[in-house]
Amino acid sequence: MTSPTTARPDVAALATSSADLIASLQDESGAYPASPTFSAYAGYSWFRDGAFIADAMSAYGRAESAERFFDWCARVLEARRAEIDAIVAASRDGQPVGDAHMLPTRFTFDGRAGDDEWWDFQLDGYGTWVWAVAEHVRRHGADAARWAPAVALTVDYLAASWKRPCFDWWEEHAEHVHVSTIGCIAAGLRAAAELGVLDDARTALAASALAEADALIRSAGVADGHLSKWVGSAAVDASLAAIVGVMDVVPAASDLGSATIAAIERDLTVDGGVHRFVDDTYFGGGQWPLLSCFLGLAHVRAGDRDRARELLAWAASTAGPDGSMPEQVEHHLLAPTRVEEWVDRWGTSADPLLWSHAMLIRLAVELDGPPVAATARPSAPVHASASQESPA
Ligand code: BGC
Repeated sequence: MTSPTTARPDVAALATSSADLIASLQDESGAYPASPTFSAYAGYSWFRDGAFIADAMSAYGRAESAERFFDWCARVLEARRAEIDAIVAASRDGQPVGDAHMLPTRFTFDGRAGDDEWWDFQLDGYGTWVWAVAEHVRRHGADAARWAPAVALTVDYLAASWKRPCFDWWEEHAEHVHVSTIGCIAAGLRAAAELGVLDDARTALAASALAEADALIRSAGVADGHLSKWVGSAAVDASLAAIVGVMDVVPAASDLGSATIAAIERDLTVDGGVHRFVDDTYFGGGQWPLLSCFLGLAHVRAGDRDRARELLAWAASTAGPDGSMPEQVEHHLLAPTRVEEWVDRWGTSADPLLWSHAMLIRLAVELDGPPVAATARPSAPVHASASQESPA
């Protein structure tokens, strides 16, 4: 295993090889596999992972790859129009469907739910994919009309369902309302309205659900001055770095944003490695390079580029000799006695994990801009993101 203190791979080269790896593994359908080799993930694409991967590819100048993923999401959703309409109607009639009948979290590349059991009812990815579309449209000037029907379906689904407890980013605690999940939904609803592709009724629907979600985040979603893991929890979760940082639901430089960054640093970070949450036991509860990058993005947005560079260097140091980035590393484990049971169940943990590669790319772009050779289509100039233009 690579030591974080001795290895300092060339981050720019790793970003390039990461983008190439992602491009080479993208399915012809447009789906991004979460991990091509890990037994429990192989053959599936997640809206959550995929949306962040698409955002990274878009930021890196690989617009076509991102668009193929958005097309895949749109096809998956439009194929489920009747199902979504039924979920929305049941909710409107005060008879919401059970969790087992909500949309899945991950799909096979041809858009099916697949035959393997999973902790399936999660809402965050449905917000995140729309957020990523809007980021892409802003960055590259792409025409959002091609995703409009799927964005409208997503707004219907989220407006009807956003308050429901569901599994979090880590497929855990379906009994709670998770603050990062609500944040991803808020980012998606805001993005949907900003895209300008909704009719007036849906624009109003998105705006009112967004206002409620935002109010919940800033009231019941706060404990001790920072965002909390779930409504009613005093703990923090590293996924909150996303809604404070790159998704900008809570501004990183605000009191709430800074306190959340500080709590993640204090409770979950050792050197540059970030744990998911304090009670994590999955593969022993190691450190996730993708979370170091999310935290780094939050630091950049709050104005601390030096800390962001440390976190980026740490994430890069987790790459193996072949440049493959893992889901997590075992340098510091929260539950060392819990590694073996997962290895017995599923084999060694995911490596490569495309989401890890993506977040390294995304933080590298945030700090240093896209590569010089990044090409936009001639009709659509690449716009630097707002955060690249201003140091904070
Ligand atoms: C993580 C999810 C992720 C999935 C695929 C799971 O272990 O908890 O957040 O979406 O792996 O990468």
